[in-house]
Amino acid sequence: MSRAIVLGGTGVVGRAIALRLARDGWRVDVTGREARNMPSDLTAAGVSFVRADSRDATEVAVAFGAGADLLVDCVCYTAADARRLLPLARDATSTVMISSKAVYADAVGNHSNSDVPPQFDGPIRETQSTVRPSDIDFDSREGYGANKVAAERVLLDSGLPVSVLRPSKIHGRGAARPREWVFVKRVLDRRPLLLARRGAGVDHTTAAANLAALVEIAAARPGTRVLNCADPDAPSGLEIARAIARLLDHEWHEVLLDGDAVGNVGLHPWDAVHPIVLDMSEAQALGYSPAGDFVSTVADEVDWLVREARGGADVASLPSGDDPFFAPYFDYAAEDRFLEARAMSVGRLG
Ligand SMILES: NC(=O)c1ccc[n+]([C@@H]2O[C@H](COP(=O)([O-])OP(=O)(O)OC[C@H]3O[C@@H](n4cnc5c(N)ncnc54)[C@H](OP(=O)(O)O)[C@@H]3O)[C@@H](O)[C@H]2O)c1
Repeated sequence: MSRAIVLGGTGVVGRAIALRLARDGWRVDVTGREARNMPSDLTAAGVSFVRADSRDATEVAVAFGAGADLLVDCVCYTAADARRLLPLARDATSTVMISSKAVYADAVGNHSNSDVPPQFDGPIRETQSTVRPSDIDFDSREGYGANKVAAERVLLDSGLPVSVLRPSKIHGRGAARPREWVFVKRVLDRRPLLLARRGAGVDHTTAAANLAALVEIAAARPGTRVLNCADPDAPSGLEIARAIARLLDHEWHEVLLDGDAVGNVGLHPWDAVHPIVLDMSEAQALGYSPAGDFVSTVADEVDWLVREARGGADVASLPSGDDPFFAPYFDYAAEDRFLEARAMSVGRLG
C-alpha cells in the first residue's frame, strides 16, 4: 500500500486530497496542530491524524517517519517553510507544494492582491511572470504572493521531484472562508441578488476536488514542475450565483448594476475588473482529468453550508455575523436604502 502524508491536511485542501487518496487505496496521514480540527469524514475513511506543527522541524520529522511515496504540503507559505520541507522531500518519491495564483504579475507588476487590479492578456500560463520574491509578512496583501514565490523557488531550485500547484479561488466542504456562503446565505435569507458590473467578473474557481485529482497525477508522475489548477469552466459571478440558486431550487430577484459596487451594494468575491483565468493545458498534458466542473463540484460545499446553517454539528465553523471578510457582502441595510432610492427615482420618472 502506498503511503501519503499531507501536512496541514485538516483544511479544505488537505481534506479533499486525503479523502481522494484514501478512497483510491492509499494509506494516508494528515498533520495539524489541533486534533479537534480533524474532519470526521477523514477518520471514517481511515485517514490518521498526527499532531505536528509544520514550523517545528522535529515534530514534522517524527510525523513523516522513514519516508513516503507522496508528501503534500498545504501550509508552505515562506522560503523558511520550504527549507524545512527539503529534508523530507529527499525521502519522498513525489512532493507537492500548494502555492497560489497570487504569484502571477501582469505586464506592469500588478497581481491579485494589489490595489490596482491586474490585467492579464488572456488565460494565464505557468510561464507568466511572477511577483518578486520577498520575506515581508506573508500574512499581508503584498507579502502573500511574494513569499509563495520565494517558497516555490527554494523547492524548484532543489531539483527534487516537487510539483508546485497554483490554484485560484478554492471551494470545497470545510473551507475556512467559504466564499460561496455569500450567495448561499442570501438564498436562505430570501434576499435579492445585487451584483456590480452585472456580475460579469471572472476570478477563476478551483474545486478542492480538482486539486486532489491533480495531486494524484503528480504522485503518479514525479517531476520538478509548476502546474496551474482551476476548474474546467471559469464561471462569472452571475453564473456562480445562478448555479448556487439552481442547487437550492431558488430563483433570484436579480438587480444587476451597470457599474462598480455602490459602497457595499453589489460586492461579491469574484468581481475581478479584468478576468483572471488559469490556462490548464500543462496539467492536461500530464494526464490530469478534472473531477468535475464548477457546478458539479460546488454542490457538496453548498450542501454542507445549508446543513450547518440549519443547525448541523459543525455550525460553529460557519462565518459569524461580524466576520470582517464577510460583513461587507451582507450589508442588507445599505441594500434596502439603495433599492428604496431606486424605486423612488423610477416612480418619479414614471
Ligand atoms: N483557500 C483558497 O482560496 C486558496 C487559494 C489559493 C491557494 N491556497 C493555498 O492552499 C493551501 C491550503 O489552504 P486551505 O484553505 O486548506 O488552508 P486552511 O483552511 O488554513 O487549512 C490549513 C490546515 O492546516 C492546519 N495548519 C495550519 N497551520 C499549521 C501548521 N503550522 N502546522 C500544521 N498544520 C497547520 C490547520 O489546522 P490547525 O489549526 O489545527 O493546525 C488547518 O486545518 C494554502 O497553502 C493556501 O495558501 C488557498
